[in-house]
Amino acid sequence: MHNLGILLSGRGSNFLAIADAIASGKIPDARIAVVISNLADAPGLAAARDRGLNAIAIESRGRKRQEHDAEIVATLQAHHVDLVCLAGYMRLLSPGFIQAFPQRILNIHPSLLPAFPGLDAQLQAFEHGVQVTGCTVHFVDEQLDHGPIILQRPVPVFPSDDPHTLADRILEQEHIAYAEAIARVLSGNYQIIGRRYLPKARTAPTKA
Ligand code: GRF
Repeated sequence: MHNLGILLSGRGSNFLAIADAIASGKIPDARIAVVISNLADAPGLAAARDRGLNAIAIESRGRKRQEHDAEIVATLQAHHVDLVCLAGYMRLLSPGFIQAFPQRILNIHPSLLPAFPGLDAQLQAFEHGVQVTGCTVHFVDEQLDHGPIILQRPVPVFPSDDPHTLADRILEQEHIAYAEAIARVLSGNYQIIGRRYLPKARTAPTKA
């Protein structure tokens, strides 16, 4: 059984999509061991509590990043977390955090990286005038929105869109992408070569 740790700062719709995907068997052999937020009043944290999950606020305000991150790492370890999923977690992770979970931290970003990293990616894409954008699930490394890409889903931009209709269309795809990417990573059936995430070819069972 895999233990997921979710970090969030906001409404938590990606967290809920992950919880639903576990419940429906789309992410097999996994449970959410703990949900942590740097903001005590994050709606996603209340939603986690409503679902009977361990929901913990570790406030970041007024604290040094390293010290705050060390407390989060200790909490994840205390809950035996083996995969950390950032789901709208609006803080950069310190190197110490990333090194505590090598290749075991995922993030979802609402654009087709490497286009439009950083804040308000949907608005950046809209204002740039791209006709296709989307979402990306990637491993977290020490640069913002940068690590190896696990999965992307494209989303069209229509002439009738405004930034909100576009963000909603991307969000629908985020919910599908995150669950699928987590299932892929938990299967262990991949390798990372350079920056490339490569599914391992399935070999036919050999006869004895
Ligand atoms: C999502 O758009 C995600 O891609 C970005 O932050 C937003 C979080 O939304 N990293 P939610 O809190 O999961 O609803």
